[in-house]
Parts: sequence; structure tokens; C-alpha cells
Amino acid sequence: MAGISRPRGTEDLLPEPLARLKRVLAAGLQVAAAHGYRQIETPIFESTDLFVRGVGEATDVVTREMYTFPDRGGRSLTLRPEGTAPVVRAFWESPLRQEPLPVRVSYAGPMFRYDRPGKGRYRQFHQFGVEVLGESEPEVDAEVIGLAWRWLERLGISGTSLQLNSLGDRECRPTYRAALLEFFEPQMAALPELDRERLRRNPLRVLDSKELADDGLLDRAPRTIDYLCSECRAAFDRVQEALSALGIPFAVNHRLVRGLDYYARTAFEVWHQELAGAQNALFGGGRYDGLSELLGYPPLPGVGFAAGLERVAMISAPAPEPGRPEVAVLSAPPADSKAAVALADRLRRAGLSVLLDAGARGLRGKLSFAERSGVRLALILGESELRARTVTIRRMAGRTQESLPLEGVEGRIRELLSSAELAEEGAS
Ligand code: HAM
Repeated sequence: MAGISRPRGTEDLLPEPLARLKRVLAAGLQVAAAHGYRQIETPIFESTDLFVRGVGEATDVVTREMYTFPDRGGRSLTLRPEGTAPVVRAFWESPLRQEPLPVRVSYAGPMFRYDRPGKGRYRQFHQFGVEVLGESEPEVDAEVIGLAWRWLERLGISGTSLQLNSLGDRECRPTYRAALLEFFEPQMAALPELDRERLRRNPLRVLDSKELADDGLLDRAPRTIDYLCSECRAAFDRVQEALSALGIPFAVNHRLVRGLDYYARTAFEVWHQELAGAQNALFGGGRYDGLSELLGYPPLPGVGFAAGLERVAMISAPAPEPGRPEVAVLSAPPADSKAAVALADRLRRAGLSVLLDAGARGLRGKLSFAERSGVRLALILGESELRARTVTIRRMAGRTQESLPLEGVEGRIRELLSSAELAEEGAS
């Protein structure tokens, strides 16, 4: 077909995948609420500067992946590639800043990155995330990880592994960076161009280089945790102790650096075995104590995570589609269709999901459509039913019928829908 297709890297969310995404998100919001997190929403577009300064000028996200455009007033706007910088901005620009600290929030919504589309990687995707603002105690780092972990448990997802690292802070990171550069200096000429570029712009990123992944070089490279100052070291120990108290297993991963520049100290990702390669992160997060200042606001420590909802949904169980009708109301021409219209309305108001077929085509065609729509009961209103003020109820699975008075038929329908008899017939 030669119609206009959807943009590359975007998806139309059809009923079942959408139901799954919503169920996954609802579980996340519930677990977050149980931890005292309140949901907020920030705009889908923001000033470009928010991400350039927050996420970092040299990151892939900012240099290559942002959807940036001028609006009609000449302002540079960007479709948000992530939610943390917007949440910090929203904190300072709202009454949240007057609340006692820490402030705990959750958020969800579409994010946009001009990424190379592939399995689990889209240009428009959805994140669910939480942020704790105004708390530097390392136990909240573990709280945030614990919340995400309990969420996956509630969804029945296993096969995950928690990868943990500390990236140091303003005190100790420069020493580490220098050690890293010194280590790679003699190898510089032999390195792929991409990695030389990484070392020039953002040396830590060389640690998660795909090009060097199978090279023993990275195993010998200096490790952040050997360069941590005493505060960062103590904080990292406390995060690990709190995770142990929660009974959450983790692996310290010396190569875990994150794609966004605002992190300090704790960094983590949760990987899943079914998501291959670099796209295996279900979620990622960490501490970002310097972010608020990067955005021009007073210092405000923070920690959080965000998960890709499509990725979590992909490995979770299928969800029942809400809104799939259970009952069809069919007028049988030449009988007048008004009674069918009224009955469908009555049943919907009684809370049932009802498909109405009140058109002029014959009953056979209507029954066949009802069957293909997956309804379990068809209620037929023909001339004899209208005369006797009854309705014929047909069980689709067994093709058995009964006739009942129209008055009070809701009760019998409910009984039938929940009866084992119907379920058995349906299963056979
Ligand atoms: P991030 O690691 O860039 O972190 O993204 C978090 C998650 O979003 C990833 O683990 C992945 O599941 C999903 N994701 C990212 N890009 C794509 C894509 N192109 N297609 C599908 N899913 C994707 C952040 O965004 C930080 N704001 C997380 C955070 C919160 N750190 C502290 N607080």
C-alpha cells in the first residue's frame, strides 16, 4: 500500500500491547505509592538548554539523539529524551520546593530519542521513573533500587540481574579520569576512532565501548572503585549493605558507566537475559547530586531510576484486553431495533461491556460477527421476543439458547458470565 506510513522507530500501540503497557505501569505506580512516591507529569517538550546542560553536551543523547526544533517564537525546544532534568526543574518551579525534604515523586510518559531503531529500541518510547530530591543518605539509593525490584517481582519477571557501580564525585572523579587517560595513552594509536573520540570527550564512556567489549584491555583498565574518596567509598558500602538488608542480589560492575553525564556516586542498571546486547537494560538510574547546579539552581542531591516500559512489557505476561465486549445485543430484522438500542444502553449502565448490532442485516450475519468478536453471550430481540417482552440468550460456546423475561435480565446475564458452565464450554 502506498499510504503514508508511521515515522521510523515509532509504534502504534494496539489493544493487547497497550493493555500490557498500562498494566505494567499501573503496577509500578502502585509500588511507588506504597513507598510514598506521588505522581507528577512534566511537559513533553522543554527548553533545549535543559538537556544540553543537564544531560551533558558531549553525550550521545545530546549530540545525536535529540528532536530539537524552533517554535514559532524562535525558542529552541526539544522533545524530552529523559525525565530527570525536567523533574528537577519542576521541583524548583513549583510549590514542591517548599515541602519538607526529601520530596519523592514518580512519573511516566513518552520520551524521544533519535536512536537506531531495533528490538526494544524506539524513537518514541515510554518511561516510568521515580526521583527522590533533597536526600543524600545512601540508604535512599537502595530504596529506589528496591522499589524497582519489587515492581519487577510483582509483575512476575525473573531472569534479571542488578548491575551496580560507583562513579565517584567531584572530589575523586578527576583523579580517576586522569588514571584512565594515562592507562589508554600508550594504546591510543591502536584504538578504534570512536574510542579515541570517547577518550577526548568523555573518558569514562570508553568503559562501555562496544568496540572494545571483547578486548582484554578493558579488564585491565583502572576501576572507579579503586579511586573513590573516603566519603564515596563509605556511601557505596552503605548502599550495598542496604541492598543486602532488602535481600536484593547485585553484581558490582566496574564497567558500568551511564550514558548521561549527571551521575555521581551510585549508578545501576537492571538487565534481563532475554534482551540481547546493549539493549538489555530494563532500567537504569543513579545519584545525580550536581544536576540541580548544572541547571542553574541551588544544590539539591537526588537519586532515581527510569525504566523502558516497552522493554518491561515485552517480557511480562500478556494482559487481558479491557473493553473487549462480553455480550452482544442483536436486533433480528424485521423487528424494530429500538428495543435493542435501549437494552444495550441499560446493560452498559449496569457495568457490562456490550456490542450492539441494531442494523438492517439479517440475524445470521450478526451472529457470525458476534462470534468472531469473541463475545460469550448474544441477546437476541426479534419480533416474537418483542411481543412477549422476552429476550433470547444464546451461549456462543455451546450454541444453546434460553428465553427470559426482559425485565431483570441483567442478573441472569451476570450469573451466566461468571458460571463455570460457560467457562467450561468456552474452554472446550
Ligand atoms: P536511561 O538509561 O537513558 O536513563 O533510560 C532508562 C531506560 O529507558 C533504559 O534502561 C531503557 O529501558 C529505556 N530506554 C532508553 N532509550 C530507549 C529507546 N530508544 N527505546 C526504548 N527504551 C529506551 C534515563 O533516562 C535516566 N533519566 C534515568 C534516571 C532517573 N536516572 C536517575 N533518575
